[in-house]
Amino acid sequence: MHYNLCFIGFGNVARSLVRLLERKRDVLKSKHNVTYSITGIATGKHGFAVNPDGLDIQKAFELVESGQDISQLTNHQPFDFAQGKSPITNSLDVIQHSSANVMFENSPVNTQTGQPAVDHIRAALNLGMHAITANKGPVVHGCRELTALAAERGKKFRFESAVMGGAPVFSVMREAFPLAEIESFKGILNATTNVILSRMEGGESYEEALAYAQKIGLAETDPTNDVDGWDAAIKVAALVTVLWDAPLTPQQVNPTGIRGITPEMIAEAKAAGRRYKLVCSAEKTDGKIQVGVAPQLVDAASPLYGMMNSSTGVTFRTDVIIDYSIILSEKPGMTGGPEETAYGLFADFVNIARS
Ligand code: HSE
Repeated sequence: MHYNLCFIGFGNVARSLVRLLERKRDVLKSKHNVTYSITGIATGKHGFAVNPDGLDIQKAFELVESGQDISQLTNHQPFDFAQGKSPITNSLDVIQHSSANVMFENSPVNTQTGQPAVDHIRAALNLGMHAITANKGPVVHGCRELTALAAERGKKFRFESAVMGGAPVFSVMREAFPLAEIESFKGILNATTNVILSRMEGGESYEEALAYAQKIGLAETDPTNDVDGWDAAIKVAALVTVLWDAPLTPQQVNPTGIRGITPEMIAEAKAAGRRYKLVCSAEKTDGKIQVGVAPQLVDAASPLYGMMNSSTGVTFRTDVIIDYSIILSEKPGMTGGPEETAYGLFADFVNIARS
């Protein structure tokens, strides 16, 4: 089948995804009989482009990467171009006029409201598209509504990359654990704080370690979201919301960050064979869910002890498979970069296409 794809948000993650799609173009066709065109792009700073016959993606990259506007690529017959101005002036125009079958939503999101991602996804589903996002906001703020809307339209709403980048978490728990009851989960879901705590153990100051996490592109634009536990909290909220169908906000997680952990505390813990980790946890007992994000001391007996630097991981306890862990190991440079996040989006697309 041929898919028209539109991209709402065309930053590093979306562009990595386009590169990955191009790299896998032949195998997509040979293994799954999937072909694709990119028919719509909405950028934050470089305009909007639509061509239902397929945009010149090479040209779109050149324009965006040289700081130019992509609107000149728009070619859409119903419109009169006599004015020489593109009639496509916002993301919703792109969604509406791109004739896409799949929308990738990766625009900057307000994590307090999930907007504008929720509106984009709602519009795409209403137009009969599948919607795929790496954003946590719409998962936390719109999961029930958007999943129901998708089901009503016979489409999918997918968000594998929202937690642990491209590592399969949601799809594994959805597809590979039929009728299992998840009793709890525990892990490290924020890489920045793990880098900071690891490097402080190695002797760096908090400021030096944070600067390193920013340098390798791991920290959020506003790193207070990492160090105060909000990024971890929204990931916990996303897991709880999806896996237990129990809507939860980051505010309800009420996280404690790592600012209170001093070099002295880390040295003292080290001398005792222990380490501080920003531990994310959730447990369901008699239908009641308790959640937490807070620094905890762990010793060598804990699976979290050996997760250093940018590695992240989570262990699910279920009623059938007792402890099932997913670990994203650290690698030189970083974990959770745009390529890994792009892979989660790509995997969502392939999984939709082959089902
Ligand atoms: N700032 C995030 C982290 C990036 O450090 O884990 C990935 O969501």
